[in-house]
Amino acid sequence: MPVTAKKLSNVLFEDQQPAPDDNRAELIEGLSRKQKKINPKYFYDEQGSELFEQITQQSEYYPTRTEKSILSTHASEIASYCGEDCILIEPGSGSSEKVRLLLDEIQPAAYVPLDISADFLYQAAQKLGQEFPWLNIHAICADFSDQWQARTELKGGRRVVFYPGSTIGNMEPEVAQEFLSNLREWIGHDGSVLIGVDLHKPEHLLNAAYNDAQGVTAEFNLNVLNSMNNLVNADFDPDDFSHRAFYNNDLNRIEMHLVSKDSQTVNIDGGLIQFDKGETLHTESSYKYTLASFTALSNAAGFTLEKSWLDEDELFSVHYLTISEELK
Ligand code: AVJ
Repeated sequence: MPVTAKKLSNVLFEDQQPAPDDNRAELIEGLSRKQKKINPKYFYDEQGSELFEQITQQSEYYPTRTEKSILSTHASEIASYCGEDCILIEPGSGSSEKVRLLLDEIQPAAYVPLDISADFLYQAAQKLGQEFPWLNIHAICADFSDQWQARTELKGGRRVVFYPGSTIGNMEPEVAQEFLSNLREWIGHDGSVLIGVDLHKPEHLLNAAYNDAQGVTAEFNLNVLNSMNNLVNADFDPDDFSHRAFYNNDLNRIEMHLVSKDSQTVNIDGGLIQFDKGETLHTESSYKYTLASFTALSNAAGFTLEKSWLDEDELFSVHYLTISEELK
């Protein structure tokens, strides 16, 4: 029997893929604002995911390698916080790369990767199941901001949400707080969150990380235009825009923009969007926290920060949060 045809007994795949969103309405709403903006989720078409992968390998882009080194260095201590036989849930699991650094130590009763991209999730779960034959994998294709758990019977056990990559940095702080707060309902009173958060640092390091010398981040930023063209039948021309990324000190965030090289009109499925010369489309924010500001955010969301792990240079942080005593 060919190996590829083998169905693994330790991998369960559940498709709760939401009906396709009305991307068009959302995009046009964002593009009609005074400061034009889009949801950064549109970066991640196939090409965009590949480009992000390349970004993580640039020497200026410190977050991925730093977080991975924190996770491997402290895997055993992280596991002792998670406890025995937990249900490890990862929203937006992608290729499940980072969790591999923890699985042998945590030995969860089940690993529940959640991702919006069904094919990608299916392949990733199969591959992980082959590498970790002892691991129960319950992959769920869902939009993790939806109420996926309502339809899903998970194994019993303490729930630990794993949310690496400083993905939370893409959210406005109020939205991040709301997101964390909503996690409490998924995980129950004894649940916890293991989360990766990018830190404040000298501005030149931040600016360099989003303006790599190879121009990969620029390519990634411009590719969102192709991604939108395919999604909603628009006619953005990447040659008509340029990449701009800078640290906004007042708001503690990296901002990525696409700058219109000339005045131009873009057609989005029948709707016309006008750009002045030099006008920008705000494509992403990436918020940076201090230990104090992330502690405050966690507390406001109903969590206690039990433990933080940092690298030597304090570039990146991983935190273990439990539900605040008074909310249990
Ligand atoms: C995946 C959201 C953490 O903000 O650093 C990398 C995305 N954008 N370079 C980040 C990104 C430009 C990344 N996150």
